[in-house]
Amino acid sequence: MKGIILAGGTGSRLYPLTRVTNKHLLPVYDKPMIYYPLQILVDAGIRDILIVCGGNSAGEFLRLLRNGVDFGLQQLNFAYQEGEGGIADALRLAEYFSGGEKICVVLGDNLIERDIRQAREKFERQDRGAMVLLKEVPDPQRFGVPVFEGERILRIEEKPQSPQSPYAVIGIYFYDGTVFNRIRTLQPSARAEYEITDVNNSYLRDGLLSHSLLDGWWTDAGTLESLWRASGMVREKVRAAQGRGAESKVRGAGATRP
Ligand code: DAU
Repeated sequence: MKGIILAGGTGSRLYPLTRVTNKHLLPVYDKPMIYYPLQILVDAGIRDILIVCGGNSAGEFLRLLRNGVDFGLQQLNFAYQEGEGGIADALRLAEYFSGGEKICVVLGDNLIERDIRQAREKFERQDRGAMVLLKEVPDPQRFGVPVFEGERILRIEEKPQSPQSPYAVIGIYFYDGTVFNRIRTLQPSARAEYEITDVNNSYLRDGLLSHSLLDGWWTDAGTLESLWRASGMVREKVRAAQGRGAESKVRGAGATRP
């Protein structure tokens, strides 16, 4: 399975932070934002990765990430999105790279607490189609929101004023090779973007969209509030890991004492 990170767009919701710098290069606690989606793919065992960038300072991605050495990679691939035609518009640039294989797509401003290994394995077992990941959130109106009939998703609504469920479709998507033909059939939305929700609804209409619930926390970091929150969540996670490290050192030292 190949991995694709979408890091285009102008990040206008974060102006003036993003007037010069690219949103995905901004710090989230101790690392640039783009490190987190990259780590998600690497932790899932995906090593063949394309980053679609765009907007300001796009060349700085290469300077920062080089060949992916900080992630144990030998090579990274890059593409450039002109303008900000939407998430599905950015994804269409990955067609050649994907070569018809299954792909895992991660939005460049999404962070998770744990990993998506199980989800990846589940999708490997799925014959064809797509899979989305859901997380219960307090503010579903900011996201793509599934409408359920029992256990089944009927449709996904993008940023609905009256959400029909408390779930967000998070920015980690699994697709088969038909995704690019589906993108070609899309029309721009009211906000003049090619929407990833329309791609997911196209799979739904064909009965080919499965879903899983994500374990652990998830957040985006594309607004001032969520960027602030994301830094705090990462800080907690880092400090908890440091605490566990110190504790096990003490236990280790104790074990060797007479
Ligand atoms: O975070 C999950 C949500 O992401 C989903 O629940 C929504 O269904 C989905 O539409 C998206 O919503 P946002 O409005 O938060 O997306 P945003 O425009 O902030 O873009 C998220 C990332 O996608 C961004 O960090 C980079 C990439 N992107 C976005 C646009 C508009 C591109 O690569 N190119 C683009 O043109």
